[in-house]
Amino acid sequence: MELLKETILERGQIYPNNLLKVDSFINHQIDPMLMAEIGKEFKQYFGDREVTKVLTIEASGIAPAMTTAFEFQVPMVFAKKTLPSTLMKDKVYSADVFSFTKNVTSKVVVAETLLNKGDKVLIVDDFLANGEAVLGLKKLIEDAGGEVVGVGILIEKSFQPGRQKLEDNGLDVYSLARIKSIADGKVTFK
Ligand code: G4P
Ligand code: NA
Ligand code: NA
Repeated sequence: MELLKETILERGQIYPNNLLKVDSFINHQIDPMLMAEIGKEFKQYFGDREVTKVLTIEASGIAPAMTTAFEFQVPMVFAKKTLPSTLMKDKVYSADVFSFTKNVTSKVVVAETLLNKGDKVLIVDDFLANGEAVLGLKKLIEDAGGEVVGVGILIEKSFQPGRQKLEDNGLDVYSLARIKSIADGKVTFK
């Protein structure tokens, strides 16, 4: 998606350890016009499939998942990273997600009432690096008896193993910007 790639080049910042900071349009401040276009792009790509829900993980996945769900006219659900007190009495689906960036394992949970047998779920997330977050979401969906119809990613770090891992798990991944390398302070797309 040209608009996203241009925005990354203009407004992204490179940090040590191949980290791309996108705080001015995705991770802290959010560009709603960009998010609206992203929703339309995912609708265009996945639009021939039946989608009953869009699923992401809080926090940064919520904005693009929301605009995507709006295009499909279906609900958007975000998995929570911690068990809030209001969910403690509910039954939840849960999965462990290991973060290579942060070197910690955390739980992601969704109330059992929000994912159901027969759900056809489109997963949306901001970054694909190691793929652990998406695999956690896939487990939640399948525990509920639903099915993953596709995975929409904003920024794929193609030099990390995420895409391969997801493809090995039978998932169709569509990434709007695929980064081949981050070197000498420069982002290069695939
Ligand atoms: P994974 O999600 O693909 O398994 O990868 P990883 O464990 O490496 O990523 C952990 C967190 O770091 C995720 O956000 C992911 O989106 C983010 N991340 C990975 N690489 C980059 C990068 O180059 N730049 C930025 N800005 N983020 C990156 P999270 O912990 O779920 O946080 P959030 O959704 O609340 O922002
Ligand atoms: Na359920
Ligand atoms: Na994320």
